[in-house]
Amino acid sequence: MSGFFTLQTPLQGARFGGWARTTGDAAAVVKAAEAEPAALPRALAESGGVLLLKGLHSIAQDASLLVRLSRLFGPEVEDYRRTLTPRHQVHDAVPEIFIVSNVAPVSRMPPKRPEPPMTADGGFPVQYPQRKGWHTDQSYRRPPPDISLFFAVAPVSRDQGQTIFANGTLAYEALSPDMKRKVGQLEGLHAQPGSGRSRDAVLAGTKPREFAAHERSQRQPVVRIHPVTGKPALYLCESGQMDWIEGPFVGMQPGPHGDGAALLDALMAHYTRPEFIYVHEWDQGDLIVWDNRCLVHAATWFDVETQNRVMWRTTVHGNPGALYAGEKKSWIPELADASTE
Ligand SMILES: [Fe+2]
Repeated sequence: MSGFFTLQTPLQGARFGGWARTTGDAAAVVKAAEAEPAALPRALAESGGVLLLKGLHSIAQDASLLVRLSRLFGPEVEDYRRTLTPRHQVHDAVPEIFIVSNVAPVSRMPPKRPEPPMTADGGFPVQYPQRKGWHTDQSYRRPPPDISLFFAVAPVSRDQGQTIFANGTLAYEALSPDMKRKVGQLEGLHAQPGSGRSRDAVLAGTKPREFAAHERSQRQPVVRIHPVTGKPALYLCESGQMDWIEGPFVGMQPGPHGDGAALLDALMAHYTRPEFIYVHEWDQGDLIVWDNRCLVHAATWFDVETQNRVMWRTTVHGNPGALYAGEKKSWIPELADASTE
């Protein structure tokens, strides 16, 4: 164990996740973490892919601290100036920070409330399809990213604007042997949000926009072997981040009414069963590190009439696993191979 934190597992109300309990301000934590660079990544792996740090308020005054922490988790921290990200969503001084906020100029609205807003027994809904928006970050890219860091500059009140996580390793382990065989060799087709290929867009008859080579939907294995732990995990998204014209699965009946849709619904309902979930209620100064290779997550509703939310995200790339060895980045125009889909 490390000298600058103690690891408490699992996170409250969940079967996974860890809290790295630190002392001192964010600058002291970052300095200590850089002196023991393997410690936090090891704690992340030991925690099943969700690691919480609290009390890092001063990152809000020195955004570079978040980038320094991010660098501990992999060789490449995304520079959003180079990845066709709209500039108003990128931090002015630190281009590795993507801003998620309902405040102008970002003006990104939260997801709708589930319908109905509570479960039948009065609980907070987590399971698909009542809860929607489950995804793993940037799965429409090959190679996909490894890890995201999400820092609360200004969270909303604790009963709103949560981030919820589902554990793909536990969900995979709980599949029947028949289902494990069925999905073991299957590939999903992942699409950029807003491309006109989402389930809702296809059902509404929206004409999808033409893709350049670097924007095309990308195949991903439904079961990924984690490059650090060696464990298999489900790797899937739902309505908004799969391709519902040619997918959601390669080689199955496509579209919102096909065999592929039925399988996706069944898998996502299984993946997001309450026993595989952690719900995070944010406090200012919280940082969550999550592993996109073995988890999905979803944002939740908050009241934009009364609440302003500002969150900072970084994305770490560089260790996607042997399957992607030697691949060029699909999303960079000058690297994308026009022959791939
Ligand atoms: Fe996300």
